[in-house]
Amino acid sequence: MTYKVIQWTTGHVGREAVKGIMRHPELELVGCYAWSEHKAGKDVGELCGIDPTGVIATSDINQLLALEADCVCYMPTFPDIDEVERILRSGKNVVSSYFINARSWGPEVQTRLIQAAEQSGVSLFGSGIFPGFANFVAAMMASASYGFSKVRFLESVDLTHYEAIANYANLGWGQPPEEKWRATNESVLGTYAECIDVIADLLHIPITEIRFDYESATAADDREFHGYSIPAGTIAGQKCQWTGMVGQEAVIELEVVWNAGKGLQPEWPVSHGYTMEVQGDPGVHTRVKFVPSKSQMQGGRPADLANVVTAMPVVNAISAVCEAKAGIRTYADLPLIRAYYTAK
Ligand SMILES: NC(=O)c1ccc[n+]([C@@H]2O[C@H](COP(=O)([O-])OP(=O)(O)OC[C@H]3O[C@@H](n4cnc5c(N)ncnc54)[C@H](OP(=O)(O)O)[C@@H]3O)[C@@H](O)[C@H]2O)c1
Repeated sequence: MTYKVIQWTTGHVGREAVKGIMRHPELELVGCYAWSEHKAGKDVGELCGIDPTGVIATSDINQLLALEADCVCYMPTFPDIDEVERILRSGKNVVSSYFINARSWGPEVQTRLIQAAEQSGVSLFGSGIFPGFANFVAAMMASASYGFSKVRFLESVDLTHYEAIANYANLGWGQPPEEKWRATNESVLGTYAECIDVIADLLHIPITEIRFDYESATAADDREFHGYSIPAGTIAGQKCQWTGMVGQEAVIELEVVWNAGKGLQPEWPVSHGYTMEVQGDPGVHTRVKFVPSKSQMQGGRPADLANVVTAMPVVNAISAVCEAKAGIRTYADLPLIRAYYTAK
């Protein structure tokens, strides 16, 4: 079975998704949306730094939606709900590096997307490394215990080499620390809270409340990362935690620590990856770290791996999503998503 896929934008994550689609034996790239005018008319291979694909990127949404395709791999900087609804209503499944279950957009938007999907007989699924795949792994570990009292999860990274760091501007980075950033982060990072829903669904946890904590860290000196300026005294790091409560018990803790370089105030330790802990009988601990490939090292771009591990849980889900019951799907109700061995 081959699934025909339209790639929606070729930014940092989208370019890696295209490479993943091209290498996947069950997927065929049939179209590509260019949000940037200068990308329209170019071969997708050229936009992604690979051999020509024969697929030409276009900004003509009508033309793309008229294509016979099973799925859109939707990866713009920020989703446009009207656009996603339109894609679903055109009868195409949507996989994305943004959505989880759309609850944080509010009931009106969530219902609109569910109805669009159900009425067209298609599904919407979102993943990435986190939110997405890493928190799914954390939940799976609990299966090895008689029982558990808590799932605790930490993402801890230094974003010095992350080219998309400018996307943190809407979280307050490069601006003075102010109380308003707490509410901004809680709202902008709503998909992180939705991961609590998925873990709770997977592990039958009757969550009664989700709590959010936020702390920022500032740079003592002027810094610049990939053209994005962070002046001294402004936000260059943050620690957020989403806690799933059952009554007064914290049962799921998802903590995220992002630092732009060393020497921030305060300075939290960086452990470069994911630390997952199931507290139970017995406890289960896991560390997930990523190792750059030879070609990423040789190309001097080891940080590209962050975009690969974001894109591939989405790409590898395409066949399962295309076969799934219509609606918004999550890891809690899709069959196991598997990678595909491809000989060199
Ligand atoms: N879950 C996870 O683990 C995870 C991790 C990282 C990122 N993400 C998400 O993945 C998505 C893509 O991230 P990225 O780093 O690849 O983003 P990006 O490179 O900054 O942007 C992706 C593409 O979006 C288009 N774009 C730029 N500005 C736009 C605007 N104002 N309106 C509409 N489209 C615009 C451009 O399309 P063209 O290609 O046409 O120029 C751009 O290449 C984001 O939603 C991000 O939050 C998720």
